[in-house]
Amino acid sequence: DQPLADMLVLFGGTGDLAQRMLFPSLYFLDADGFLSDSFAIIATARTELDHDAFIAQVKEAVAARAEGLDEKAWSRFEKRLSYVVADATKPEGAATLKAAIGDGRTPIYYLAVSPSIYGRVAAALSAAGMTGHGTRIILEKPIGRDLESSKVTNAAVAEAFPEESIFRIDHYLGKETVQNLLALRFANTLFEPLWNNLTIDHVQITVAETEGVGDRWPYYDEYGALRDMVQNHMLQLLCLVAMEPPADMEPDSVRNEKVKVLRSLRPVTRSDVQTVSVRGQYTSGVSSGQSVTGYEAERGQHSDTETFVALRVDIDNWRWAGVPFFLRTGKRLPERRTQIAIQFKPVPHSIFDDAAREDLAANRLVIDLQPDEDIELLLMNKAPGLAERGMRLQSLPLSLSLAKAYSGPNARRRIAYERLILDVIQNNSTLFVRRDEVERAWEWVDGVADAWRESNMTPKPYAAGSWGPAGAFALIERSDRAWYD
Ligand code: BG6
Repeated sequence: DQPLADMLVLFGGTGDLAQRMLFPSLYFLDADGFLSDSFAIIATARTELDHDAFIAQVKEAVAARAEGLDEKAWSRFEKRLSYVVADATKPEGAATLKAAIGDGRTPIYYLAVSPSIYGRVAAALSAAGMTGHGTRIILEKPIGRDLESSKVTNAAVAEAFPEESIFRIDHYLGKETVQNLLALRFANTLFEPLWNNLTIDHVQITVAETEGVGDRWPYYDEYGALRDMVQNHMLQLLCLVAMEPPADMEPDSVRNEKVKVLRSLRPVTRSDVQTVSVRGQYTSGVSSGQSVTGYEAERGQHSDTETFVALRVDIDNWRWAGVPFFLRTGKRLPERRTQIAIQFKPVPHSIFDDAAREDLAANRLVIDLQPDEDIELLLMNKAPGLAERGMRLQSLPLSLSLAKAYSGPNARRRIAYERLILDVIQNNSTLFVRRDEVERAWEWVDGVADAWRESNMTPKPYAAGSWGPAGAFALIERSDRAWYD
């Protein structure tokens, strides 16, 4: 019964996220006809900026992302935009915004600001009577730095907004291929009967980046790879792979299943932390052909923050008993790659002779999210031609070739935020993270961080441009498996 939103109030409107992602996403939504005629966008921040300078800034940001503007689309979009100077944590700031919003509007408040002020902004909006029926709030990660602090933030925002009006963004859930995981699993009959410990050997999830931390270190140094990537994006990917089929796509149907997975994660403890986890920090090296400095040089002093983490995660439930999920993520790795690989078990018995038996490789389903989106199923095939005796076998991909299948003049890789903003306008929270999900994820992550601290596990160095410290290989090889590089 919630109305469609007809306004977006963007806090942090001059910030990096707004410029790089949010304005371009809104522009594309508009260009594709998804914003109603009356939809208005108010950007707000403390920075003094006149209207023309603000518009010029947004235009530049959108043009950079859109690789050129459609002038007609831009001129319509531009009319929706206004800028308000306000300190949203203060009553005067909220009053200024309230006046700018006007009456009869259903706004979305998008907090692209430091999470440390989420509670205060929500309180100021509430005190000014701006949180009535239909209003919604979007929160960017990180919600807290651990379970305790995330509860404080969640509780503060809950004072002002009911849970169904709070949209916690994990932008990975807006990525096309991440949603495609749901289609792959639940719109095909082929996979689901095999999606368990009888057929699957293990799962690998890799989120590799070539970029370093650079000048983001003031944020990053406090969080590290575990809190920056694993607590949110990687656990979300794991949940979508591991969850039971939800009854439908309703927000709570999907989110209930994800929470069940989070509850089943085996806690990491001091006694096994050395075998199931690896921390790394990049030193100088060569990345994408360039000599680059190490993390501590960027940071300007010694740091025990990890820029790489690898984990073996066990899910203690009926479906996944005995099927480890190997996770790794890091900065300054050799390539940009986000990939989920589902490794099936080998055939139970080989009917082939020795040469062909050596060729036999178990099936693997590889879901590539970045840099290119694709889905491949590796199948065994007879190599053509004559072998000296019998036959030779070869593993070949059955590929969905998504880029080719969906190429054409209108094929554009959407920004993940486009999907998510549209969902908030339409009040659909299926792709957003519920409070208990965030808190269960923190609970598990806190276990890892505590175990690291209790056993003085500091990050091991790895050269920029390498696949992390040697321990990351040992972690997976311990169970006779290997990362797919
Ligand atoms: C963000 C992290 O949430 O995700 C960054 O804070 C990381 O450190 C980024 O680089 C990765 O997102 P994407 O969409 O580029 O894979």
